[in-house]
Formats: sequence, C-alpha cells, structure tokens
Amino acid sequence: MLSKKMQDALNEQVRIEAQSSQVYLAMASWAEIQPGIDNITSFFYRHSDEERMHMLKLIKFINERGGFAMIPALEQPQPTFPSIKHAFKELLKHEEYVSQSINTVVDIALNEKDYATYNFMQWYVSEQIEEEALARTMNDKLELIGDDKSGLYLFDKDILMVTVGGGSAAEK
Ligand code: FEO
Repeated sequence: MLSKKMQDALNEQVRIEAQSSQVYLAMASWAEIQPGIDNITSFFYRHSDEERMHMLKLIKFINERGGFAMIPALEQPQPTFPSIKHAFKELLKHEEYVSQSINTVVDIALNEKDYATYNFMQWYVSEQIEEEALARTMNDKLELIGDDKSGLYLFDKDILMVTVGGGSAAEK
C-alpha cells in the first residue's frame, strides 16, 4: 500500500510525464510546418509518445499498489521556437527538470522504506540517463552545425536512426 506522501509524489510524476508529452507534441507540430525536417518532426512525435508511455506506466503502478492515479490538468506548452537549435535546448532543459523530479520520488521512497516503489523507479532513473545523454549529443551536434544548411540536412537524416526510450511499450 502506498503512503499518502508517496502517492502524491507519484501523481506529481504522472503530471510531469503527461506535461512532457504535451511539450514534445508541441515541438512536433511546430517542426512539421518547417520545411525539410521530416525526421526531426517524427523524432518529436516519437518522443511525445514515449512520454505518454512513461505516464501510463506510473498510472498502472499507482493503481496496482492500492492507490489512485489522478489524471491531471496540463499547461499550454510553448507552441513555437525561434529555431531548431532552440527547440533542442528546451528539450534538454526539460529532461534535466524531469530527472530532478524523479530523484525527488526516489528520495521519498527511500525515506519511507518503500522498496517496491524504489525498485519500480529505477527504470525511470536509467531512462533519464539515456534521455539526457541523447539530448546532450543532439545539442552538441547542432552547436557544431551552426547555420550550415547542409549540416542540418545531415542532422535530419541522422536522427532517423535515433531510438527514444529503452525498449518497446510491451516491456514497460
Ligand atoms: Fe519521461 Fe523524458 O522523461
């Protein structure tokens, strides 16, 4: 059984994952109307789907453990960006924020000796390591490219190979 404090922290994480999905969906929609970056667009759409999976996994865990997952209201995400570089900078900033909130949930689980939740959250801890690393690599590449249009063309080609998340939805 989850304590009230643990349940509240997990529900806050549900909100953050849902908000992340919205943030990347907004990036996807903005990217879709920019010319020539079809693969970057699908990357954002995939990332948004991935965040929804993170949210669902939490909802199921909370309900399975005798709690109640509250479906939250969300904020309007940033709808447009001055450039692709800016969008990816925001993505990295957002992932860093998600990592911090995951650490808070893990801290509470440890303090409460809730080892089931602690164990469950380890999946998110490793997921964040991957997602932050991926976001940093992309920012580094975009930094190198600068304003070079052919560089951006290659970046868009490259991103096709990138897998967001550590495994298929069935494993989650
Ligand atoms: Fe679910 Fe990218 O954090």
